[in-house]
Amino acid sequence: MTQDELKRQVAQAALPYLKNTPIIGMGTGSTVTHLIDLLADCDFKHDIEGAVSSSIKTTEHLQRIGIPVLELNQTGDLEIYVDGADEVTPHKKMLKGGGGALTREKIIAGASKKFVCIVDSSKCVDVMGKFPLPVEVLPLARSFVARELVKLGGQPELRQNYITDNHCEILDVHNLSILDPVELERIINNIPGVVTNGLFALRGADVVLVGKGSEVISY
Ligand code: A5P
Repeated sequence: MTQDELKRQVAQAALPYLKNTPIIGMGTGSTVTHLIDLLADCDFKHDIEGAVSSSIKTTEHLQRIGIPVLELNQTGDLEIYVDGADEVTPHKKMLKGGGGALTREKIIAGASKKFVCIVDSSKCVDVMGKFPLPVEVLPLARSFVARELVKLGGQPELRQNYITDNHCEILDVHNLSILDPVELERIINNIPGVVTNGLFALRGADVVLVGKGSEVISY
């Protein structure tokens, strides 16, 4: 199977988690794109009253298939949030934000009782950091934050021609060996000017589904 086929396979496996849940949280990325496409044709689509979306892209896709998009301020906490990841560990810690939606993703994840992470098998790692860590920054703080990230051993690179849904910028930080993701998530979030970083370790996933081709495993 191609990577894209594995993404669709794991998205299919996530569908049962959305059944009997009137309000769902929806992530961003190509794996989630498959999930929304599958939702469009599933028999319980009309039982879904609405979704809280983590990005403009996801919002537009949900609206195209007829699922109303709701504001988190109005829904309160959610039963379930489904999203992909760029890397995930055996301890269900994740590195996310390759698609640039990390801040909204982290907010919705924090407000959800269950986080179901859906990945193809290429995303499974023992130690995170091979994928550059996205850090969303206020534009005026970009250079200061970059210098602080260098002190932490990383090599930040401004994501070119990219502005987030929150009108901020992203530094992609290369060459971090993330041995203590909980601590690093805290340290980076404490740098003034950082909106958030792509480590989802303080609030990791509750369930990880991995598309492997022959099967989908969960842990
Ligand atoms: C979006 O900002 C990201 O956090 C995605 O969840 C992550 O990049 C996974 O994306 P794919 O499903 O496209 O691999």
